[in-house]
Amino acid sequence: MLLTIGDLLEEILIRLDAAPVRGIDSSVRSARVRGGSAANVAAIDAEIGGTPRFVGQVGDDALGHALVDDLSSRGVDVRGAHLGSTGVIVTTVGQGARTRLIDRGASRGPARLDPGTLDGVAQIYIAASAFTEDPLATAVDQLLAEIRDRRIPLVLGGPSAADLGLFGAEPFHELVRTARADAVVLNRFEHRSLGLHPREALGGAGATIITAGARPTLVLTPKGDADSVPVPPIDTLRDRTGAGDAFLAGFLSSRRTGADPVSATHAGHRIAARVLRNLGPTTKA
Ligand SMILES: Nc1ncnc2c1ncn2[C@@H]1O[C@H](COP(=O)(O)OP(=O)(O)OP(=O)(O)O)[C@@H](O)[C@H]1O
Ligand SMILES: [Mg+2]
Repeated sequence: MLLTIGDLLEEILIRLDAAPVRGIDSSVRSARVRGGSAANVAAIDAEIGGTPRFVGQVGDDALGHALVDDLSSRGVDVRGAHLGSTGVIVTTVGQGARTRLIDRGASRGPARLDPGTLDGVAQIYIAASAFTEDPLATAVDQLLAEIRDRRIPLVLGGPSAADLGLFGAEPFHELVRTARADAVVLNRFEHRSLGLHPREALGGAGATIITAGARPTLVLTPKGDADSVPVPPIDTLRDRTGAGDAFLAGFLSSRRTGADPVSATHAGHRIAARVLRNLGPTTKA
C-alpha cells in the first residue's frame, strides 16, 4: 500500500486572456479542482488500482469535510485531522504562463503523525512542502526515523520555489541524504534551484528523476549513469494541472511492483498523458 503525506486543499484555476490590472475588475473563467500533491498522488493511485492511504490536515470547515469525503469516496484511506481553515491555491493560466498563489492553511499540520499510520505500508511519498513549515515539518521529521527503521522505500517530491523560500536548498540536500530516499522526483526548474548541474544526481537518492514537460525525463543513478526517457507525444492536452502528480502516481505504482526506475518512468509518462486529457488531477473524464 502507498502512503502519501502532505497537503489537501482547494485549487482555483483562473484563465487569464490578458494580464490583470491592479485595482481593476476583470471577467474571467474559472474551475475548482483538488490541490495538494500528496492528496492528488493518492487519488490517482486509487484510480489506477492502488489502495492508498493519505495523511494530512484540512480545516474544520465545510470545504475541509467535503475534500475529505470526496477523497474517501475515491478509495483513499484518509487519516486526516480537522483543524483551522482549509488552504487554497489560486492558479492563473494563460499567455504561456502559470502563476500560483498558495495559502496552505490547515495543511501546515497535523502536529503529530501516529507511527501506526505506517502499518501495512509498502511505500511512502512525501511532498517537499511537508518539510517546510511547522507543525507538520517537525512531525514528518520525527516519523523519518521510524520509516528508515521499517525500511519502507521513500520517494520525495522536488521543492517548488515557494518551498525553497521557506526551507532552503541545503536542508533539502541534507534531508535526501539522511532519509536515503529511494527516489527524488523533480522537474528541471526544481532540480536547477537546488544548485545542481543539469545531469547531477542528488546525493543519497537511489534515483534522481528529472521531468521536463514534453521533453525527455532524465533518470540518474548515484554512480552518474543517465538515461534519457522520451515522453510519447499526446493527442489532446486539455489542462496540465496535476501532470507532475500523475507522473508520480504512475512511477510509484510501477516501482512498487519491483520495476526499475527507467521502467517506472515510462509508467509515469503513461499516467501523466491520461491526466493531461482531463480537467484537474484525474485520469477519469
Ligand atoms: N506538454 C506535454 N506533453 C506530453 N506530456 C507532458 C507534457 N507536459 C507534461 N507532460 C507529462 O507530465 C510529466 C510531468 O511534467 P512536468 O515536468 O511539467 O512536471 P511538473 O512541472 O512537476 O508539473 P506540475 O506543475 O504538475 O507539478 C512529464 O514527464 C510528462 O510525462
Ligand atoms: Mg511538480
